[in-house]
Amino acid sequence: MTSNTPKLAVNMGGLEMKNPVTVASGTFGYGEEFAQYFDVALLGAVTTKSISIKPRAGNKPPRLVETPAGLLNAIGLQNVGLERFLSQKVPYLRKKKATIIANIYGYSPEEYTTLAERLESEEAADAIEANLSCPNVHDARTASGAVLVSQSCEAILEYTRAIRAATKLPLFIKLTPNVMNIQEPALAAEEAGADGVCLINTLLGMAINTETRRPRLTNVVGGLSGPAIRPVAVKMVWDAARVLRIPIIGTGGITDAASALEFLLAGATAVSVGSMSFRQPDAAYRVVQGLADYLERHGIPDINQIIGAMQA
Ligand SMILES: Cc1cc2nc3c(=O)[nH]c(=O)nc-3n(C[C@H](O)[C@H](O)[C@H](O)COP(=O)(O)O)c2cc1C
Repeated sequence: MTSNTPKLAVNMGGLEMKNPVTVASGTFGYGEEFAQYFDVALLGAVTTKSISIKPRAGNKPPRLVETPAGLLNAIGLQNVGLERFLSQKVPYLRKKKATIIANIYGYSPEEYTTLAERLESEEAADAIEANLSCPNVHDARTASGAVLVSQSCEAILEYTRAIRAATKLPLFIKLTPNVMNIQEPALAAEEAGADGVCLINTLLGMAINTETRRPRLTNVVGGLSGPAIRPVAVKMVWDAARVLRIPIIGTGGITDAASALEFLLAGATAVSVGSMSFRQPDAAYRVVQGLADYLERHGIPDINQIIGAMQA
């Protein structure tokens, strides 16, 4: 690396990332699935599909439909479960020397802490992202009656404190955008000891087949992702960045370096590429290259100078 090469490294809440680009949980499998397209270790981190203690089969198909500029999914957290994740998925990523953000999902604070403790003791993750925001599981309800944990600040405090006490790994809380004011849940995560937040999970949506008059998803309701949600996500990152001291992973409709830069300029420290990887499997790596090009083109020596640098 010459001294003129722009620096892409960021510190995401204690996690050293060689560049600010990761992939969004659930859109990149466990990393190995994309190895034929590029070296996944070139990303700032690989964020793996939400894992639960027990394997899950997910919801009945159809569970993924296209909508204008977006994808509506109700996968329902299909995953291999903790034990197979540890024995079959992590070794590949470790061998590749990829940085691992392990995304976890549980039905209670205790389940999250079990997952976090095992991941740390098995050295299976470099950071943990707790998914408190999956819209597609019906068997989970919080004590306060909210459908998603991250729709209730009390529940966020309870769950985050429990996970925080269970691990010293950098801990990121993934929040739902399906709230009135994103600043409140983001501040609750910070107060409870999170090292960062991930914004946003999918927006609730539905689509109907007018010929059959049936919902296009068996689950009826799903989560909307893709370019359609990008302006909403950028605004939520901007809102949260103005009140938080902890850093943000921005996600929602990133398709290229320019859209990733929107999130960084709005105040995100890192970004994750989600649905775009289905269309272009090496999209995340192209974002890394595009960010380097942007810095060079603008004569900016360090990506950190871009974070929160929108000029309003
Ligand atoms: C098919 C699919 C599966 C997803 N599964 C998960 C998941 O398991 N855990 C999670 O935290 N988010 C999950 N998400 C949400 C994404 O990680 C991301 O927050 C969202 O899709 C917005 O980013 P995008 O517009 O770039 O896709 C999923 C999204 C899609 C489209």
